[in-house]
Amino acid sequence: MKNIRSPIIAILGHVDHGKTTLLDKIRGTAIASSEAGGITQAIGATHIPISTIKKICGRLLEKMKIKLIIPSLLFIDTPGHEAFTTLRKRGGAVADIAVLVIDINEGFRPQTEESINFLKQFRTPFVVAATKIDRITGWHSEERCFLESFPEQTERAQEEMETKLYNLIGQLKLHGFDAERYDRVRDYTRQVAVVPVSGITGEGIPDLLMVLAGISQKFLKDNLEVQPGEGKGTVLEVKEYRGLGVTIDVVIYDGEIRRGDYLIIGGSTPETTVITRVKALLKPNPLSEMRVEKNFISTERVSAAAGVKIAAPGLENVIAGSPLRAVSDKSMIDKAVKEVKEEIEEVEIETDHTGFILKADTLGSLEALIKSLKSMNMPIRKAHVGTITKTDILEAKTMEKPLIFAFGVAPSDEIKKLARDNNVKIFSSDVIYKLIEDYNKWEEEKRKLKEEELLEKTTRPGRVRIMRGCIFRRSRPAIFGVEVIKGTIKPGYRLTKNGKIIGEIKEIQSRGENTGEAHTADKVALSMEDVVIGEHINEGDILEVFLTDRDKTNLEKIRSKLSEDEKELLDEEQ
Ligand code: GTP
Ligand code: MG
Repeated sequence: MKNIRSPIIAILGHVDHGKTTLLDKIRGTAIASSEAGGITQAIGATHIPISTIKKICGRLLEKMKIKLIIPSLLFIDTPGHEAFTTLRKRGGAVADIAVLVIDINEGFRPQTEESINFLKQFRTPFVVAATKIDRITGWHSEERCFLESFPEQTERAQEEMETKLYNLIGQLKLHGFDAERYDRVRDYTRQVAVVPVSGITGEGIPDLLMVLAGISQKFLKDNLEVQPGEGKGTVLEVKEYRGLGVTIDVVIYDGEIRRGDYLIIGGSTPETTVITRVKALLKPNPLSEMRVEKNFISTERVSAAAGVKIAAPGLENVIAGSPLRAVSDKSMIDKAVKEVKEEIEEVEIETDHTGFILKADTLGSLEALIKSLKSMNMPIRKAHVGTITKTDILEAKTMEKPLIFAFGVAPSDEIKKLARDNNVKIFSSDVIYKLIEDYNKWEEEKRKLKEEELLEKTTRPGRVRIMRGCIFRRSRPAIFGVEVIKGTIKPGYRLTKNGKIIGEIKEIQSRGENTGEAHTADKVALSMEDVVIGEHINEGDILEVFLTDRDKTNLEKIRSKLSEDEKELLDEEQ
């Protein structure tokens, strides 16, 4: 049989929605209470052996006919506070599957949105834990299966639960996910399962673990096969540890690491790759968490998936989130160096079909840039570390808005020229807010230009009165004096009388000179080719500019550009 590793499960969600409490309950220890300020400040990793899961899920597993062969579940807790975006993102990126924790009483919050966007970006499958159900009015919560508890609640409590649940499901729908309460899901590959739970009483935890184990085993099995040899992982945290110096907490997702292996760790820039040798491998006890458990077990080797603390010289410059490789043979170092470099350059998201292209000098600045643009709802097509390349320009060219944002990487003259030739606009700066400011200014100018163009080709509303004693010629063309009562007239505009078109203005003269337009209160002479005075129109008649439906729609769009008189006429037309 193939070697199946434990799935890595990241717990994500808004601050205080109950991630640590939930994991805590699962683990049966009290981490939440020993954390600084009660807030999770770094990612921690927890192993839940399959025997524990069997014990917790017991009868439920039998009922659902699930036979578990995965060795355990490896949970990664992440902080919900908005300052820890990068850590949340790392959690989302390294995970095989995620639990999106949402307080059922609060629903979606900013970091819920952010987490769901990461999950979309990394295409990570996820389950929603709707927490704090014990707070639902009249709900009697105790440590057991949700499916057993639900039918025993009062009708009112059940109703409130369903209402809140379906609000949540509606919000998930708005984000493009078809979701259902887990026992009502028909197809786990298409629908997101929502499991109601309480981290305080433990209600629903058997259900959650069963769904996670079931989904991992059924749909991720191919991803969970470990290749023997080279260890691959991600650094979760860099920490000074008594007696050991600077250590790193790592999640291993493939292969294995042995004491004495060469470690290759990618830095935030390709130049800062760290190469060292493993001095000690420290594994947390099962059911304990790396972050708080002081008594580690020193071991010879660790296989995926696992959380492990590594002691080695020269780890001071490592940055959390970096990719890591472990090789036993010196000759394999070069290949590993190349791999981690590539992995860093690959930190990119290609979620949106169309959107902007981002380039930045470091991983950190790239992330900051992504975050700023996302918060402004700007679609991102691609985000890479490095300078702007020809490929970037050719790719941008095909986008609806051909824009490239470059942070800390000034484009060369050659690239600038190529961009100009292809009508691609580059915004480049070393300050994020300056990039955004420049972009906003540019958008504003473009918008104004567009409005002006639209105004130019749209007929504006106008109303004139034929003045008495001012008929200069009766026909071919008729020439007569008018007063503009309201609005604008221009040569080429058609005029109506009582709603019927009588003809087109040929020329407008003011004091014997041709003029391009006349406005409210102007007195001018008009010539009209096919109009006969006395037959079609007479002294004292009121004539209106004829507006097509298209003109009217355009005028609504550029309403702010119209005069008060024009606006009034437009409103009369509607
Ligand atoms: P961060 O790590 O800061 O993002 O928060 P978190 O999501 O880990 O939340 P945490 O587990 O620290 O819980 C926040 C608060 O909500 C604590 O006061 C918990 O006691 C409370 N809480 C968490 N889960 C539940 C629950 O299921 N029911 C009730 N009633 N309270 C809960
Ligand atoms: Mg927490």
